[in-house]
Amino acid sequence: MSTATLLLKGREYELPVIEGSEGETAIDITSLRAKSGAITFDPGYANTGSCASAITFIDGEKGILRYRGYPIEELARQCTFVEVCYLLIHGHLPSPAELIAFDAKLTRHSLIHEDMKKFFEGFPPSAHPMAILSAMVASLSAYYPNSGDSELNIIRLLSKAKTIAAFSYKKSVGQPFIYPRNDLTYTQNFMHMMFAVPAEDYVVSPAVDRALNLLLILHADHEQNCSTSTVRMVGSSGANLFASISAGICALWGPLHGGANQHVIEMLQQIRESGQSPRAFVERAKQKDSGFKLMGFGHRVYKNFDPRATILKKAADEVLASLGMRDPLLDTAIELEQIALTDPYFIERKLYPNVDFYSGILYRAMGIPTNMFTVMFALGRLPGWIAQWKEMVGDDKTRINRPRQVYAGNTVRNIETLEEALAMTV
Ligand code: CMC
Repeated sequence: MSTATLLLKGREYELPVIEGSEGETAIDITSLRAKSGAITFDPGYANTGSCASAITFIDGEKGILRYRGYPIEELARQCTFVEVCYLLIHGHLPSPAELIAFDAKLTRHSLIHEDMKKFFEGFPPSAHPMAILSAMVASLSAYYPNSGDSELNIIRLLSKAKTIAAFSYKKSVGQPFIYPRNDLTYTQNFMHMMFAVPAEDYVVSPAVDRALNLLLILHADHEQNCSTSTVRMVGSSGANLFASISAGICALWGPLHGGANQHVIEMLQQIRESGQSPRAFVERAKQKDSGFKLMGFGHRVYKNFDPRATILKKAADEVLASLGMRDPLLDTAIELEQIALTDPYFIERKLYPNVDFYSGILYRAMGIPTNMFTVMFALGRLPGWIAQWKEMVGDDKTRINRPRQVYAGNTVRNIETLEEALAMTV
């Protein structure tokens, strides 16, 4: 086993070096504090490996993303979202018989408990669907307490989340809830629950169904990002699956993470409505004191391109063409991208469009409202969160997550007596 040597205050410490299956190198510092009294300092965890994982591989320099070894481009082209769910959770693509059984279980568990429908009544119509989704997913643990059958709870969660998501949309538009149908696939069922009304069925077109599968597959996992690490963090305390995933949903909501897709479309709309040029927005994003960032640009890991964005840009063109639609926001997005990609500020910092830049254009074409975009991201990420939670629970190296800190506050001081305080003010 190779080692790394750390020289600290004149003393040398040998630390083991771990090598990943794709050759990444990590210095194992678990013994560092015990040996030297020192900790590592890494705000934002940009250089910290929190676990060993066999689920997803990313090479940010080369723009590579693989689930369980399969390139994202192949999965996007050849698989359905349900197959990818199976792959992430079970580690291999399903055989035809495994797929039929998995699909049947997802269909069987898609209803939510009737009592849970009452929860929706308590939310104001303006409630953000992410607030409803996270609350409802946490509430599932009240109906399905840790029974020890985590496989069944995984199926329940995967299946019921899409019902909850569609119901949250129906609530926001004041329409009656539409129940899932057993003759429809996972994605068809979601669109049916979103857009059918009691008086009229909704038939999802093959182009829209394919686009939905593609979007969900591209979002399905992304190794140790903010929401996934949150799921592992919460789960490491022994919290149940539903509670852990609900925490991940909350982490995803932020505009720097999954919330960006909603903000991208709002930004593109703002550009068009303001009458300002896309270049003016690019200039504003470069001013640090403006508090404005180009939404859908930049990534902690990808430094050349985000392979998901490449696939989605092409898909946006194709889907709009096949639906016979034109979206002026796509023209604005392309113009904005071209300006940013030739601007020295963005070139120097290696800032490229990320998955959120073009996904909103597709969601819009499918009729999904803007405030549901992050919910769509959450539905896609669900199998990844579940797979990561399952891996964490089954890993005998898992300990409760508990980072250290460098204390930067006051050194010891004592509360003054009233007399002392008065004496100080004289
Ligand atoms: N617009 C303008 N400047 C930017 C942007 C942007 N979108 N992104 C990064 N920068 C600048 C940043 O100010 C910093 O500049 P400097 O070196 O002068 O201080 C430099 O580029 C490096 O950025 P960072 O913020 O240190 O990078 P990070 O790894 O901490 O953050 C990020 C990554 C994605 C949060 C960030 O790029 C960002 O805020 N992007 C916009 C929001 C967004 O699109 N989020 C979706 C991410 S992809 C979906 C997902 O998986 O969540």
